[in-house]
Amino acid sequence: MSKSFLAILLLLSIALFSTEGCYYDNEEDLFGADSSCDTTNVTYAGDVAPIIINRCYVCHETGADGGGIVLSGYTNTKIWVDNGRLIGSIKHAAGFSPMPKSASKMPNCEINTIEAWIRNGAPDN
Ligand code: HEC
Repeated sequence: MSKSFLAILLLLSIALFSTEGCYYDNEEDLFGADSSCDTTNVTYAGDVAPIIINRCYVCHETGADGGGIVLSGYTNTKIWVDNGRLIGSIKHAAGFSPMPKSASKMPNCEINTIEAWIRNGAPDN
């Protein structure tokens, strides 16, 4: 087996691997709102708070210094819901600081869950 044959094999597998990476990204974009994402009956305590605790508390819990913005608990979170900054930032909309900061956008299902909750009036349930 020649060296160049091995090199070609190596290049081919790299090429294959990177196309698969693209495929995966596209799929995530296109089918992010997948059927396994249930956004009916979304509640603050059961659905929204766990996402915010998991993704945002590292910078926005009481005592953390994320731009002086606190997202601990319903009352604090509701301020940023009502002024429109929370949804704008997690959807990476123009004019908002994209959140979570310095990380990729959250999975669509998590964004859709928060959006559905806000559309229902962001109740404290
Ligand atoms: C790594 C730290 C970090 C994480 C994680 C993070 N934030 Fe932030 N966030 C900041 C900092 C710092 C600011 C203030 C400076 C800025 O806007 O970039 C900020 C600003 C904001 C703002 C105001 C944005 C605006 O345009 O006015 C909102 C709303 C917000 N964050 C929500 C969130 C939410 C919701 C999450 C979780 C999904 C989150 N952040 C995760 C650090 C973070």
